[in-house]
Amino acid sequence: MGEGPVQTGEHADARIGGGHARHVAIIMDGNGRWAKKRGMPRAVGHQRGVEAVRRLVRGLKPMGLECLTLYAFSSENWKRSEDEVDDLMNLMRKFIKSDLPDFVANDVKLKIIGDWQGLAPDIVAMLEDALAQTANGSRTLAVALNYGGQNEIARAAAKAAVLGEVTANAIEAQLDTADLPPLDLLIRTSGEIRLSNFLLWQAAYAEMLFVDTLWPDFKPEHLTEALDDFARRERRYGGR
Ligand code: IPE
Ligand code: IPE
Ligand code: MG
Repeated sequence: MGEGPVQTGEHADARIGGGHARHVAIIMDGNGRWAKKRGMPRAVGHQRGVEAVRRLVRGLKPMGLECLTLYAFSSENWKRSEDEVDDLMNLMRKFIKSDLPDFVANDVKLKIIGDWQGLAPDIVAMLEDALAQTANGSRTLAVALNYGGQNEIARAAAKAAVLGEVTANAIEAQLDTADLPPLDLLIRTSGEIRLSNFLLWQAAYAEMLFVDTLWPDFKPEHLTEALDDFARRERRYGGR
């Protein structure tokens, strides 16, 4: 199958003009600084960050979003102190346990991207259970855990090679996000302007929005504003 000029998968025939976003991804950053500003431990910032996630999960359907992808733990976040990594993993355990009924009630289907099978066995088991229990949801919440974009591309390329076709389309079909709509909008909170190894491939023609809000302060209204901003963008895909 000749590809001609490289077209990155579905982007090629996606409509031009922002319109209604189907897939938004967020680099949830600034928990530590939120806590520091208040003289509190970083763990408190992470707890408040979970509350921000909870608010968005409830808003997913009312906002008409098909998919929200959240960067929760990067493959580089293991470099943090053992205490902080433990705090983050324990928060994860607590969150899945406490919020699973909320996912189901809000018609949310959970998806995990990244090298998550390498997490602690009890977390893997909890996630597998949560995936099974939410399988019928109509809105996807994709959580990136032990995720690195370069690693995702390398894994996808290796699978494509085994299948004997190493083209952009063939690699894209093996990405962790292959079953999600194309990424429309990538948001990063906390004022940092970098991707930190998130959705590198998928970001090829995504719109980007960098906001100063620290993640624990992020409210559904911020996402609504971001969606309005997105709707006004002119997407060109190199075409004109
Ligand atoms: C984001 O907040 C949460 C994770 C990366 C898990 P940070 O912990 O990176 O907060 P800052 O960047 O130090 O403020
Ligand atoms: C990116 O934030 C990872 C997550 C939000 C999970 P970081 O805070 O880890 O990124 P850097 O270190 O500022 O690039
Ligand atoms: Mg950070």
